[in-house]
Amino acid sequence: MQYKVVIPAAGSGKRMGAGMNKLFLKIGHQTIIEMTLSVFGRDKRCNEIILPINPDDRKLFESLPSIKEFKEKLTFVQGGAERQESVFNGVRAIDDKKSIVLVHDGARPFVTDKIISALLENSKSSDGVICAVPVKDTIKKIEQEVVAETIDRSTLWAVQTPQAFTQEVLIESHTLAEEKGFFGTDDASLLEWQGKQIKVVMGDYFNIKVTTKEDLIFAEAILQGRHE
Ligand code: CTP
Ligand code: MG
Repeated sequence: MQYKVVIPAAGSGKRMGAGMNKLFLKIGHQTIIEMTLSVFGRDKRCNEIILPINPDDRKLFESLPSIKEFKEKLTFVQGGAERQESVFNGVRAIDDKKSIVLVHDGARPFVTDKIISALLENSKSSDGVICAVPVKDTIKKIEQEVVAETIDRSTLWAVQTPQAFTQEVLIESHTLAEEKGFFGTDDASLLEWQGKQIKVVMGDYFNIKVTTKEDLIFAEAILQGRHE
């Protein structure tokens, strides 16, 4: 099954505090964005990669070897102030309504072919498919430094990307969210909000989002583990 992928890459990496877009930081010898891109660049099922970026970063992106390597199937679009806007801009660059579109954070370099396959296999049977892993910690709701509630862990999953939809469904849900001023931290939430059904498949504990400095250490360890 063929698909297209939108990889939002227009963030500024505030929580990383590197003073630059964190996607240009290296894990091992490769930048984070190149590691992410190469998974989709090498995947024969992926026929188009759309990369929403900040125009200020364009030269830097264009200088990366992987960007040159996968040039034929890669399109840059302008990112937005929020991730949601960046994704919307990316989806708008795809004209075929029926195409399967994966949305995947540029900052998740350890996405696997196995996760992608599970998403694709389930993409016909619901409005959207996400991958997630059961949470390991006890999660409490805290208000003003006091516990308000302990949430039953057996129902809690940590949600990852990629997430799979058709172009049509993504356009519809992003358009409505924009109209109503709804902001979600992932794309599935824009559909859930309208009562659409989202299927969940198993993600991978290694499929981390590189967000803070600690994650760089975890990421180095994951890479090391892959080579052992
Ligand atoms: N992203 C984007 N456009 C934005 C914000 C984020 O395309 N306006 C992208 C990031 O580049 C990243 C993904 O969305 O690949 C997930 O976002 P996050 O991990 O939050 O990255 P940043 O927004 O860069 O980091 P921070 O929130 O710490 O500033
Ligand atoms: Mg962010």
